[in-house]
Amino acid sequence: MTTPIYECVINKKTITKPIWLMRQAGRYLPEFKEIRKINSDFINLCLNNDLSSEITLQPLKRFDLDAAIIFSDILMIPYGLNQKVNFKKNFGPELGNFSLEKISEINELDFINKLEPIYKSIKQVKKNPLIQNKDLIGFVGAPWTFLVYMINKISPKKELIKNFFEDANLIKKTLIVLEKFLKLHIKQQVKNGATIIQIFDSWAGLLEEKNLPNYVYKPTLNLVNYVKSLNIPVICFPREIKNYKKFCEIVKPDVISIDYNIDPKLIIKEIKIPIQGGLNPKILLSDKENLRKESLKYLNIFKNHPYIFNLGHGVLPETDPVMVDYLVKIVKDY
Ligand code: CP3
Repeated sequence: MTTPIYECVINKKTITKPIWLMRQAGRYLPEFKEIRKINSDFINLCLNNDLSSEITLQPLKRFDLDAAIIFSDILMIPYGLNQKVNFKKNFGPELGNFSLEKISEINELDFINKLEPIYKSIKQVKKNPLIQNKDLIGFVGAPWTFLVYMINKISPKKELIKNFFEDANLIKKTLIVLEKFLKLHIKQQVKNGATIIQIFDSWAGLLEEKNLPNYVYKPTLNLVNYVKSLNIPVICFPREIKNYKKFCEIVKPDVISIDYNIDPKLIIKEIKIPIQGGLNPKILLSDKENLRKESLKYLNIFKNHPYIFNLGHGVLPETDPVMVDYLVKIVKDY
């Protein structure tokens, strides 16, 4: 099978610039909001395979994108591990108490059964004509980002709770358990039809340099190697990490996704592997002229580099779908 993204990632082609967007499904789309209005429990929505497969395909119905990303959430993992997860309106996620003992006892089959609707949804999406010759992106959070949510229990904003690192043994053991279940989740997604895996490390930027090897490099490398063993490309997004070059040298993903603080002109000198993303999602809130100018900046800089067009973080809820459509057209016409 070859797809525009595989041509870019595997064959290192630079002619076409494939495009998909983080958070392309959900939040800003009126057809999503309609479904969301009558499905007030977000977790249950993710577990409704008919609706989640429909939502996954919504952006492909509107825009000429090269991939769909499965409609789910990274926090389905703590949910699968029996930690309470609640999405509060205008606040974000809130997690229940965490117990290493409890998650260590969880049976692998029980975990898979609990998340079965996600895998079923992937299977359903794969059957749809809209996804033919395109990629279906599965994803996991990185172990570090899970630690943050599972121990911090809410989004940390700019810093972690005090004493986060106090119990080193707890952290070490939790990482081992997480790795086991993340591999299972990856395997199930691939088995059911995901053709790429993206690893979101949304909170990588919170760590000091000295903590990166134990909490980011090593645990992510284990997952990257696992995805590679399944013969599927792996994209890493260590958001706001200070040294992307070093991350790539150690973790060796197939693609590196950059955040919007990264200067594309500098990164292209440092990184030789395929690059994804970068454009600030706020640009989609400005006007067409500015959107054109800013997206052409990325396209021109990465003209002779294998580059997947994407944003430097997810599509914002306030985004007008007309602007997304315009962006996709700019990239396709380039
Ligand atoms: O379109 C897609 O990208 C696919 C689906 C997807 C969602 N979340 C749906 C979602 C993906 C890939 C994610 C990943 C995710 N979830 C991350 C990593 C990427 C990132 O943003 O850094 C993180 C940290 C989460 C955790 C999470 N989920 C938060 C902090 C929130 C609340 C704030 C927000 O973004 O709305 C969510 C909720 C969430 N996940 C929504 C959607 C569509 C909004 C739910 C709603 O409608 O209320």
